[in-house]
Amino acid sequence: MPAEPCSATVENIERAGAFLQAGRLVAFPTETVYGLGADATDDRAVAGIFEAKGRPSFNPLIVHVPDETTARLHVHFTPEAAKLAAAFWPGGLTLVLPRKKKTPISLLVSAGLDTIAIRVPDHDIALAMLRAAARPIAAPSANASGKMSPTEAGHVIESLGHSELLAMVLDAGSCRIGLESTVVGFPEGETPVLLRPGAISREEIELVLGRGLADAEPAGGEAGRSSPGQLASHYAPDVPVRLDAVNVHPDEVLLAFGYHIPESAHATLNLSPSGDLREAAANLFTMLRTLNAHAEGRTIAVMPIPHHGLGAAINDRLKRAAAPRT
Ligand code: TXA
Ligand code: MG
Repeated sequence: MPAEPCSATVENIERAGAFLQAGRLVAFPTETVYGLGADATDDRAVAGIFEAKGRPSFNPLIVHVPDETTARLHVHFTPEAAKLAAAFWPGGLTLVLPRKKKTPISLLVSAGLDTIAIRVPDHDIALAMLRAAARPIAAPSANASGKMSPTEAGHVIESLGHSELLAMVLDAGSCRIGLESTVVGFPEGETPVLLRPGAISREEIELVLGRGLADAEPAGGEAGRSSPGQLASHYAPDVPVRLDAVNVHPDEVLLAFGYHIPESAHATLNLSPSGDLREAAANLFTMLRTLNAHAEGRTIAVMPIPHHGLGAAINDRLKRAAAPRT
């Protein structure tokens, strides 16, 4: 039960690898968000992820590997998947591909599907830890299920630090991108599907494929076009969230974007005064956390965010943060 994060020294990375080999959980940095890692081939360790997060067990996990060669041991690549891996790995793109019969990856990771979501993170510490562990590592974002994703080691301690299952939090500062990976599926004989918008924009992916991505069906849809993790309420602060706010009530706190800020909010943080979507993505979860902590029950009003590029992923997270809680 870690009270504090451990700095990502060579020695601590080796310890993290040993904890993972022993079936313990380790939280680690990636370029997108902090992950809660477990040996993907160990059923008990993977079950520990669901337990620590309080995660519905029907929600499958992303497997992290150090390179494409390792990924190919576990899943069948299609030619288009290979194109995307060549263009974006290491990086914030997760490919959902058919499981190989002989993969030792736990069936729990796939949560009943015949596919595995897999990616190579673009982060030196994550890659060093994956090599030290020498096995595929399943890792969702390192937060309690349904809550905001962690972009700093301290966020992980706040959300999961009490868990007996968590052996260690590796600290490498703030995550460069701050939003989870984009998830793309490859249903047989169909157009690749954007299952979750994220760190790599739809436009960039479509440019490499030379064709458009299909849209995901709502959760539970047929044709393998839905991603079970896309629950309506997710990334939720404790207080209500109001989107597309063009003015702000005096009793609200404001998450602003751009230069033209409506006045008289109780408190304001600005995702990006210059209107830079990359900066806004990197600030999103940290600012939501800070406003949530100071809101004292007040609503968080969020100004409109443009929908192109990373804006699609930002708006996706905000929509879920604002969704009715169940
Ligand atoms: O950036 C990220 O992707 C972070 C870091 C730690 O790598 N991980 C992350 O994992 O966000 P998680 O578990 O919070 O989100 C996994 C997403 C969910 O939407 C889940 O439904 C989808 O990937 N997913 C996983 N396996 C899948 C599968 N076999 N088929 C369809 N969707 C899948
Ligand atoms: Mg998550």
